[in-house]
Amino acid sequence: MNSINIMMMEHQNILRMLEVTRKYCLKVLKNEAVAYEDFYKIIDFVRNYADKHHHGKEEIMLFNRMTEELGFAAEKLVKHGMLVEHDMGRLYMSELEEALRKLEAGDEEAKLDIIANAMGYVNLLKRHIHKEDNVVYKFAENNLKKETRDIIDDESSNFEKKAEGAGVQKKYLDLLSELESKVNE
Ligand SMILES: [Fe+2]
Ligand SMILES: [Fe+2]
Repeated sequence: MNSINIMMMEHQNILRMLEVTRKYCLKVLKNEAVAYEDFYKIIDFVRNYADKHHHGKEEIMLFNRMTEELGFAAEKLVKHGMLVEHDMGRLYMSELEEALRKLEAGDEEAKLDIIANAMGYVNLLKRHIHKEDNVVYKFAENNLKKETRDIIDDESSNFEKKAEGAGVQKKYLDLLSELESKVNE
């Protein structure tokens, strides 16, 4: 599998976690007891799988090559689009974490911030992934030099192997299945 196919497969896993997150928000809305541990697991998945593992590869292997090699259109798409959205996602997660802590400390209004930030992230990432799958990755595949794409594939495959050695993919795919089975009970 080449690097872009791997990233598109990761998108499918992230989209599954976005559906899980939406279901956990619905539980909060229905006034069910807030599953703090599960929300913290969602944050862990987002930070370490969606952001560090997946966005990390995009940022240090793909997007930098696009801005170097593909000129103004790529720079606009990446710097003012994709990278800004990665940062907004990080902000939603820190605000979600803060809202969970506030609710744990007894501030009931923080439920609003839990739903707002979790759903803000869900909607942001859905649009972001759609744009990458349909525009950004295609632009890269069609326009980057073959030798550049080969370098990215090599870097990505080394990165994947290293992460596998540390058990990253398995840990987060297991976590995803665990939460999916909980919300679908
Ligand atoms: Fe991205
Ligand atoms: Fe992505």
